[in-house]
Amino acid sequence: MSDAPEVKATSNGISPPNFHLPLPDRPDIITANIQKLTELTPDPRHRFIFKALVKHLHQFVNETSLTTGEWMAAIDFLTRTGQKCTPLRQENILLSDVLGVSALVDALNNPVAGGATENSVLGPFYTEDAADVDFGESIASEGKGDYMYVEGRILTTDGQPIPNAVIETWETDDHGFYDTQYADRSHPDCRGRLRSDDDGKFGYRAVVPVAYPIPGDGPVGELLLLLGRHNMRPNHLHMMVEAPGFHKLVTAFYPDGCDYLRSDCVFGVKKSLVVNLKDVVDDEETRKRGFPQGGSFKLLQYDIVLLTEDQSATIRAGVEERYTITQDHKSNKS
Ligand code: BEZ
Ligand code: FE
Repeated sequence: MSDAPEVKATSNGISPPNFHLPLPDRPDIITANIQKLTELTPDPRHRFIFKALVKHLHQFVNETSLTTGEWMAAIDFLTRTGQKCTPLRQENILLSDVLGVSALVDALNNPVAGGATENSVLGPFYTEDAADVDFGESIASEGKGDYMYVEGRILTTDGQPIPNAVIETWETDDHGFYDTQYADRSHPDCRGRLRSDDDGKFGYRAVVPVAYPIPGDGPVGELLLLLGRHNMRPNHLHMMVEAPGFHKLVTAFYPDGCDYLRSDCVFGVKKSLVVNLKDVVDDEETRKRGFPQGGSFKLLQYDIVLLTEDQSATIRAGVEERYTITQDHKSNKS
């Protein structure tokens, strides 16, 4: 007598469809068959997404005449990408970043109008433990890099100040590392949380960020080498701005002049986010701003314009409508 439990292998409970798929005698029948099955997807949005996914995946395999060896290499790559992930390392997001998918999804989901500030990729280095910083204080401890003062206002699209907006900001030190990349991190550095004042103004001391590589010791690093692409981000300062009733903004500012500005490995740079840092060579002014060594500093000035939630929803609906009309127009033609 066997000790095996008396259980039978069972299906997921879904019955066979009420039609028969033709048994394929040509490769394109395989594509047609899966599309016919995908029609069964109950949720219309899921159905739409998976039909498009299958269409483009199969088209890709056909167009590239993908070999079995190449497909197995891709499976191995994806397996290793997943295995590289830990609570602190997200290699799948990094893959989406270097393929431009993160930037594209962000851009489609955060369309702007009316002079509102554009978004940029969040990246993996935001943390929730930044210290509160008062107007004019520093987000960086002394010696972390060349002095930079950041100032501006948080405004509505019609130029009204938004007081009490919460601004989270983070950047690299002058070695090109975020604080979280140091094994001996004891406290947050080069990051801070501040609020706009009654006139919507904010101001804080920081350091001039430098260009830095995204993690290159995993499958995504290998991929970039295979593609002959560098793994550098141009220097930038991240900012995330939230105020009640306004659409949350995740953005970054990119000082002009960086060698990597026009080939960002994660496609985060937008024209409107490129800034000119002013050189302030004035010892007295430098000390007045709170920089203890005096000398000179760079000045980053930028007014950040937020959309209300309603404005953002209206713009997104408009983009979706235009997109749907384009898709319908295309499917009517085919
Ligand atoms: C960043 O800017 O921090 C970043 C964004 C995407 C991937 C890696 C880093
Ligand atoms: Fe960054």
